[in-house]
Amino acid sequence: MASATAPPASPLRSASWFAAQGRAGMIYRSWLRAEGFTPDVFDGRPVIGIANSWSELTPCNVHLRGVAEAVKRGVWQAGGFPLEFPTMSLGETLMRPTAMLFRNLMAMEVEELLRANPLDGVVLLSGCDKTTPAMLMAAASADLPAIMVTGGPMLNGKFRGQDVGSGTHVWRFEAELAAGRMTQDEVVLAESGMARSCGHCMTMGTASTMACLAETLGLQLPGSAAWPAADSRRLLTAQTAGQRIVTLARERVRPSQILTRAAFENAIRVNAAIGGSTNAVIHLLAIAGRAGVPLRLDDFDELARPVPTLVNLMPSGEYLMEDFCYAGGVLAVMRELGDLLQGAHVGVSGRPLAEIAADAQCWNRDVIRSLADPLQPPGSGTAVLRGNLCPGGAVIKQSAASPRLLRHRGQALVFDSIEEYHLACDRDDLAADESTVLVVRGAGPKGYPGMPEVGNFVLPRILLERGVTDMVRISDARMSGTGYGTVVLHVAPEAVAGGPLAVLRTGDWITLDVPARSLRLEVSDDELAARLAVWQPPASPYPRGYARLYVDHVLQADQGADLDFLVGSSGAAVPRHNH
Ligand code: FES
Repeated sequence: MASATAPPASPLRSASWFAAQGRAGMIYRSWLRAEGFTPDVFDGRPVIGIANSWSELTPCNVHLRGVAEAVKRGVWQAGGFPLEFPTMSLGETLMRPTAMLFRNLMAMEVEELLRANPLDGVVLLSGCDKTTPAMLMAAASADLPAIMVTGGPMLNGKFRGQDVGSGTHVWRFEAELAAGRMTQDEVVLAESGMARSCGHCMTMGTASTMACLAETLGLQLPGSAAWPAADSRRLLTAQTAGQRIVTLARERVRPSQILTRAAFENAIRVNAAIGGSTNAVIHLLAIAGRAGVPLRLDDFDELARPVPTLVNLMPSGEYLMEDFCYAGGVLAVMRELGDLLQGAHVGVSGRPLAEIAADAQCWNRDVIRSLADPLQPPGSGTAVLRGNLCPGGAVIKQSAASPRLLRHRGQALVFDSIEEYHLACDRDDLAADESTVLVVRGAGPKGYPGMPEVGNFVLPRILLERGVTDMVRISDARMSGTGYGTVVLHVAPEAVAGGPLAVLRTGDWITLDVPARSLRLEVSDDELAARLAVWQPPASPYPRGYARLYVDHVLQADQGADLDFLVGSSGAAVPRHNH
């Protein structure tokens, strides 16, 4: 990386707008001065975009306008010119059919906004699950100097004296309600304690995971992912990011210099140590695809095998993000991982990871365990399964599964959609016992479309009433990062794309052997081939619009579920202009 004291001689990118001679320059400058800026903002200083995914439809990001003000303070302080602009926003809980359908659309929109505007650098403000990966994908493809500032988690949830985790306790309360151990009135009371402040989900769900991984990748300032949204240090982080991006813009430090193979390997290992979301697999594959870094699904298994789960957070453990923050956050995890990480990697701070982590301390060993006393042993993170039911692979989060079910043989009970399962799961005569393998298909990237988080579907009522707490479930869907259970996810190819899952029949025997990384359907190769030969793809119910584009071009889960024509980078250059 270049030194801060030796800025490159060539003019900044924004100079081709604001330093232009004649009519063009006059248009660019004078129209922007309609916002009341003094002329000296066009003196050649870096123009810094603040890409803001604020929206009242995305509660997790609703505080980001305040965060943007703090970023602006930092940009002005460092001699830059900040310009905030809105981006698409993706509210995980409200959007239908699923926010994941729109991750690629947001990534495409942000990429084009970065390239089209007179920006020398950008601060990306995200929070909710899909907003962080969408912005990282965009930054990789536009390759403009960038720092991410995630909005921080909510304060710990509280209900009747106990910690309540967003998402994780929704599944628990749903099961308690279905089993008759909780009343609807009690659920309403619990709801009010579950989201006590602004910020994203405060379990180690997808939002927290992606915030921690943005920090690990080196695109978020060290030590910043875990500060709660309501903590003043969230704004301090934002102001610091505003200062730092001005330097990165002057030195032309681009994401392509940071998003290296080493960065992704570190992210995979930190994801294993924090008990991170299975969704990180798909998002990291997609970001790597944009950055041109070769990353395979099997890397997630192979690189994570020597890494124990250290962080004792829901859904795998007991605590929440506030506790993680006060215990030392991502840096304390990095320090503990030591040589398991590539310490020479340099991110937006300009300092090698090993040097930064060496200063970190752990303040609560029950929240962030040591390598000598981990929460779960090495190799207990996300496992990648192979077999004739998932030739393109599948994943299972071992730390959130029941150990007794990690080796299991049972007969399949197959549903073609999550809606079909929901209609059946309350029936008294459902032909299922606790050894049954429940299968929901038609929920992959093309199938739903958008690969919703329905893989950890609730167990059948008759079994919940008998006290059954977990069963093997298999799906081409995803699972919320806040979810748990013995759930095989991301089966590829998905059923609607003609994977073997499409021809699985109720009553077929399935063998799951997670220690052997195997998921097999017990039918002969000839029988499987004969079934596939007569299988017909269902007609798509999406004749037009973005959903049609998505279904026609989305890649399978093992390739990151990006659109095929968005993979890679085009850089920030714009060959033509309109004046
Ligand atoms: Fe937004 Fe969980 S719903 S982070």
